[in-house]
Order: sequence, then C-alpha cells, then structure tokens
Amino acid sequence: MSQITAFGTYVPEKIINNHYFENLIDTNDEWILSRTGIRTRRFAKDGEYTSDLSYKAVQDLVSKSGKEVKDVDFIIICTTSPDQPMPNSASRLQYKLGVENAGCNDIYAACAGFVYGLQMAHGFVNSGIYQKVLVVGAETLSKIIDMDDRTSCILFGDGAGAALIEPGEDEHFLAFNSGTNGDLGHDLYLSHKKNSINGVGINPNGRIIQNGRSVFKWAVGNIPNKIRDLVEKAGLTLDDIDHIVPHSANLRIIEAIAKSLDYPMEKVPESVTEFGNTSSASIPLAIAKSMQTGGIKKGDTVLMIGFGGGLTFAGTIVKWNI
Ligand code: COA
Repeated sequence: MSQITAFGTYVPEKIINNHYFENLIDTNDEWILSRTGIRTRRFAKDGEYTSDLSYKAVQDLVSKSGKEVKDVDFIIICTTSPDQPMPNSASRLQYKLGVENAGCNDIYAACAGFVYGLQMAHGFVNSGIYQKVLVVGAETLSKIIDMDDRTSCILFGDGAGAALIEPGEDEHFLAFNSGTNGDLGHDLYLSHKKNSINGVGINPNGRIIQNGRSVFKWAVGNIPNKIRDLVEKAGLTLDDIDHIVPHSANLRIIEAIAKSLDYPMEKVPESVTEFGNTSSASIPLAIAKSMQTGGIKKGDTVLMIGFGGGLTFAGTIVKWNI
C-alpha cells in the first residue's frame, strides 16, 4: 500500500506581471486578467532549468519533512520543458541530489503529467518494484513560449512541486482514471521536427502552439464527467471530497468545472492567479498554496485531475497525510 509521505514546492524569484507583456505585444492587464484570471507568473533565470527547479522543490520537501532522499530508488520528472531531450531531467536531478542508485525517467504528459507520475509511483510501490519514489512536476515554460503569439505567451509560468511516495500501512490512493483524445493533438503542441499532427501542426521553431478555444471547450466539456467517474470509482460522492484540485490552466476553466459539478469554488485550490499555467507543476503549487492558507490539511480527501496537451487527462483521489 502506498502513501504520499512528503511534499515540497519551488518557484523562481523573478515575478512577471501582466504589464510586462504590454511592451512586447498588443495586450493589456485588463484583457489578461478577465480572460485568464492570471495576475503574475514566475520566469526562471537564464541558465536555470527544469532540473534546477526540481532540485529546489525536493530541498523544500526535505526541509519540511525531515525525510532522507539519498536512498530513493526511482525518480520521475513530469515535464513538457526538460533541460534537454537527453539525458532526461530526472537523471540531472539524481546527480544534483547525490542519490546513489535510482532509476530515472521523465514523463511527457503536459499538464496531466504530475498525476500520471503519481499513478506510476503508486504502481511501482504497490507492486514492490521500488520502495521510495520521487515524483516531481516541474516546468521552465518561459523558455519555450512563443513571445510573438499574444494568445498563448501570456498564459504560462515556471515552477516545481515534489512528492515522495512510499509504502504504508493504509492505502492512501483511493482511485485513478485517465484518458486521451489523440485526435486533438494538433490543438496544443510543441515540436522541433517538420512532422505534422493529423495533417496540421508543423512547428519548426520548438515553441508552444495552441488553439485556446478548442482546448477550453474540451476541458470544460469533458473534465466534470471525468471527476464524477473518479468519485464513483472510489465509492464516494462529491460531498465526501474535501478539495478538488484541477490543473490550473485558466481561472475561467476552473470556475466552469466547479459550476458544472455544483461544487463550491472555496474548495477548489488554484495556482493560476499567482503563477500562471505551470503545466505539470500547477497541481502541486495549488496544493502548497492551499496548505499554507489553512485549506488542505492532514486527513482530507483530495481529488486531483490534470489535463492538457495530448489531449490527455489523469486523475486520482488521495487521503492527504501531510
Ligand atoms: N491581448 C489582447 N487581445 C487578445 C489577446 C491578448 N493577449 N489574445 C487574443 N486576443 C484577441 C483575439 O485576437 C481576439 O480578437 P478578435 O475578436 O478581434 O479576433 C479576441 O481577443 C478574442 O480571442 P479568443 O481567442 O476568442 O479569446 P478567448 O476568450 O478564447 O481567450 C484564451 C483566449 C487563450 C485565454 C482562452 O481560449 C483559453 O484560456 N483557452 C484555454 C487555454 C489553456 O488553458 N491552455 C492550456 C490547457 S492545459
């Protein structure tokens, strides 16, 4: 049986407000705020990469929990913006942490990445393959934003969140689900190659391209039902869920999901207003903010659901133990 036994986060120091973009593209604070809910985001420094943010998030995990991480036996970094394709960022993190012997792998599942990482860690621990797994959702999206595209560059930010998954006496993961609409891959993509997705979507510049309206419609049209499905799988009702933590893509998406479920927004932690859309890091950053402000606490039942590029989603329900 597996549990999340420690948790930490990190965001870079540099705060970017909406006015920053007014000198670069035709936009303004009011438009960004009203369409997305975003007030600020963080950008990593030059030379600061995803494995660096991951390292700081793990340091935060260690200082908050007192846990030892030198003996972890598997490291997963969930990211869309790795330091480079090879070696994977998890291997960079293994070196920086001084972990002696750990398998290392990156998961590329965009904004659903962190929850996919938790699902895999749960499988590893419960099968006995590994005993102590680090799952880190980390992004330096500022390095792959297309600053000429005003519909997307205002959305994204950098950050990291880390969780340690270990065996425990009780099972703290209560349910899982996932699914994909690969036919909509061309609505949100990043490619360095001259290959298309379903006949569209060549992006030789290696920058994020998205059809915002389509992604918005897909998320609002599908995610509420996936949340209901997850709750049912756990044998619970929505009243039993203390917090729903959706991927912090856009405040309007989050509000629409909550409204569709008739679930109170006060119980929906988010990180998008302060940190922008941080993809794989958005769920852990929302959880950390909620914990700091007296929201999520030990013993709560927390539903997390990530969704994005794929288009893919992954959800889980967890008994929070920290
Ligand atoms: N500043 C000012 N105007 C902008 C702008 C900006 N940064 N970006 C777009 N506009 C303009 C458009 O050009 C358009 O102008 P037009 O009507 O003259 O053609 C108008 O604003 C409306 O554009 P539209 O694309 O319809 O806006 P929207 O309400 O759909 O909001 C997003 C755009 C991107 C904020 C929204 O679609 C969204 O959040 N989608 C989901 C994106 C997301 O979360 N992706 C990640 C998922 S994991």
